Amino acid sequence: MSDLTWVPKAAAIAREAGARLREFFSEGVATEYKGDVDLVTVADRTVEKLIRTRLSEVFPDHGMYGEEGTREKLEREFRWYVDPLDGTTNFAHGFPQFCVSMGLEQRPAGLGPQQDGVLVAAVIYDPMRDELFSAERGRGAKLNGRPAQVSRIPDLAEALVSTGFPSRKRHENPNIHFYHEFTLRSHGVRRAGSAALDLAYVAAGRLEAFWEFNLNPWDTAAGILLVEEAAGRVSDFSGNRVQLESREVLASNGLIHDEMVGFFQNMFAGRDLTPIPTPEEFAAQRAERADR
Ligand code: IPD
Ligand code: CA
Ligand code: CA
Repeated sequence: MSDLTWVPKAAAIAREAGARLREFFSEGVATEYKGDVDLVTVADRTVEKLIRTRLSEVFPDHGMYGEEGTREKLEREFRWYVDPLDGTTNFAHGFPQFCVSMGLEQRPAGLGPQQDGVLVAAVIYDPMRDELFSAERGRGAKLNGRPAQVSRIPDLAEALVSTGFPSRKRHENPNIHFYHEFTLRSHGVRRAGSAALDLAYVAAGRLEAFWEFNLNPWDTAAGILLVEEAAGRVSDFSGNRVQLESREVLASNGLIHDEMVGFFQNMFAGRDLTPIPTPEEFAAQRAERADR
């Protein structure tokens, strides 16, 4: 018997939701557009509804804030941030990297709507690998019931890191510059397409760090607590305490955190930018080699 307060029931819901996603995935689903490349499927909506129903059955006093529009009982002390399908683009293309993400925030009475409470429970479920990442504040992080810990790699130069790119307002996002610099300074940068799983992988020691611009609370709430409970660190790009609405997330094993914050600071100040050949320069070099 588990003595955890919220995770056992939330894990059962995430597993049921994940099983539903797996069914949709094997049947194949039609894709619609929310924005120019922002995809949504019947699976996103059906699974959000399923989670909403189950949460109201097992935690009738809790509120829910879901990506597909659920805004329920938000005045309550406890609020679940739910992404029923994180990694929709992967899902829609048959690329098996996606998850269900559920993070629970406790909001003491008197907190303003823009103020964060405390993240107290997290569940991220990958239905394709049957991996359940979970945490409760002060009780450590787990992967399929076993303790999970961040990695001990001390330098960015030896790190495998990860990031993501938005599907809205892509032209306004500078992340390709950071992708480029961190690629040159690490073992590599992955862009696997599910921010919640990226955060869970930092918690499980599979990645040393993850960052992204402009994520939403349903993408990050569960993952932030997981990383913290796995002895990692989460901040904004300046190293300050992360806010659910701060639109900047940098999560790491803690050991490479200051080094990464330093690069962010330098790059925002126009330093530490490594030149690489433009396609035109490269083509000219290639033509010159062919002439020899
Ligand atoms: C997206 C994924 C992706 C990230 C995007 C998110 P969705 O969530 O987490 O990895 O790069 O910024 O919007 O739309 O698949 O739930
Ligand atoms: Ca998401
Ligand atoms: Ca989603």
